[in-house]
Amino acid sequence: MSSAEEKDFGTADANITRYAIETFHPEDAALQEIRIRAKKADLPPIHVGPMDALHLEVLTRMTGAKKVVEIGTLAGLSGLCFLRALPADGRLYTFEYEEKHAKVARETFSKSGFDERYEIFVGEAIKNLPQIEKHGPFDLVFIDADKASYPDYLDWAAKNLKIGGVVLGDNTFAWGEIWKTSFDNPRQALPVNALREFNSRLANDSRFRATILPTGEGLTVGVKVSN
Ligand code: SAH
Ligand code: DHB
Ligand code: MG
Repeated sequence: MSSAEEKDFGTADANITRYAIETFHPEDAALQEIRIRAKKADLPPIHVGPMDALHLEVLTRMTGAKKVVEIGTLAGLSGLCFLRALPADGRLYTFEYEEKHAKVARETFSKSGFDERYEIFVGEAIKNLPQIEKHGPFDLVFIDADKASYPDYLDWAAKNLKIGGVVLGDNTFAWGEIWKTSFDNPRQALPVNALREFNSRLANDSRFRATILPTGEGLTVGVKVSN
């Protein structure tokens, strides 16, 4: 392994995954319980994976973030990772379309004692985001809701992040299809093209320096470097 071409980007080796989980033990009982409770409430099992949950907590601690915006709450699994990373005077603003999901997330945050440290906004995120602009600029924006809207969420983040603030996008390998430019099934085109636009805009916008981390599902990370 010497040339760049020989170094694969990420690994799909199940032994490496098992090793990482055994060594870094990403999920404690509280995080595991969320997956079970969400399943009982009939929510889709599309939370971030165990290692990604840990990545979110560690990345948030690295930034020293106090004000985090999350788009796509689901059952609050990723939200709990942000809350754990925030200082006592930190705040999580999280956006969720489905009241049924928000209800499960409120239980999640309450069980871990974070009642006073978050706000959930129920409805279309793009319509509700303006309500928090008065609390900005923000330190970190995590995008994990409807894939077609990622470019719009990026526009919002670019305007409402502080310089030095971070935007994170989940699922940016598009289930392995991010490299595709033509599609057998036209229904795949919309989310994949939106994720491609999200990545290429972050890569080319002079306001950001960005990379794509080869996590299980692809995690795009951009730092705002200028207005
Ligand atoms: N971040 C969560 C997973 C989010 S799954 C975790 O890792 O724990 C994506 C969520 O986005 C779903 O709950 C879905 O209902 C929500 N969603 C979809 N479209 C949305 C929209 N337009 N506005 C806000 N939330 C939306
Ligand atoms: C889906 C959405 C997600 O955010 C995710 O992490 C996995 C799957 C989905 O819509 O299928
Ligand atoms: Mg996701």
